[in-house]
Amino acid sequence: MAKPDHATLVAMTGATKHFGGVRASAGIDFAVRRGEIHALIGENGAGKSTLMNILPGVITDYEGEVSIDGRGVRFHGPGDAQRAGIATIHQELDLVAGLSIAENMFLGREPRTRIRTVDQRAMRARASEHLRWLGVNLDPRRPVSGLRVGEQQLVEIAKALSLDARVLIMDEPTAPPPRSPGPRCSAPNWSCPRGPLSRRPRSPPTPACSAS
Ligand SMILES: Nc1ncnc2c1ncn2[C@@H]1O[C@H](COP(=O)(O)OP(=O)(O)O)[C@@H](O)[C@H]1O
Ligand SMILES: [Mg+2]
Repeated sequence: MAKPDHATLVAMTGATKHFGGVRASAGIDFAVRRGEIHALIGENGAGKSTLMNILPGVITDYEGEVSIDGRGVRFHGPGDAQRAGIATIHQELDLVAGLSIAENMFLGREPRTRIRTVDQRAMRARASEHLRWLGVNLDPRRPVSGLRVGEQQLVEIAKALSLDARVLIMDEPTAPPPRSPGPRCSAPNWSCPRGPLSRRPRSPPTPACSAS
């Protein structure tokens, strides 16, 4: 396993988790440097999801250390991890079927007008900006219920980017997103933008780590 160094964004050392008598994860070291893409590969029950639930604060009662930018952290829930820039796309997507793409992306943090109503126009514009950066041509007004699974995953990725996520975890992304016109990344069947930071709507590009 890679040893954490100055370029390491997130690291886990000795990550151990038991579910009753079942040892789901035993002393795992895992480090992600900026811009890296990792794939965790293992048979069913190997402990991939367990590990990828420790990092974003879904599992909080574990042994071992998690650090971000070299500083030890202990998340008390997914909200803590999200504020630290760790976003997770679970196998069961977290989208609300009856809402539009833009409404899903900004659920609970909708831009507001001066009289505190939801600023639909601003919300759609921001949603479009993030989708476009991903090379995704989807109308942000469309209900997510009409999207294919791969498109729904892209909406989740766009949402993660809009949250300024620095690490994106995808647990079993079984339906690979369609290819966008951007340059290819190293993972098979996957392309994503890696252009200059200035092309990114808000903050730096997102390293991704994925369990599959
Ligand atoms: N919430 C849970 N309660 C009890 N056992 C669990 C729970 N989650 C996972 N396990 C067990 O932990 C082991 C690792 O599971 P998991 O991390 O889901 O593996 P993977 O994602 O690699 O398929 C399995 O034996 C699984 O049955
Ligand atoms: Mg799993």
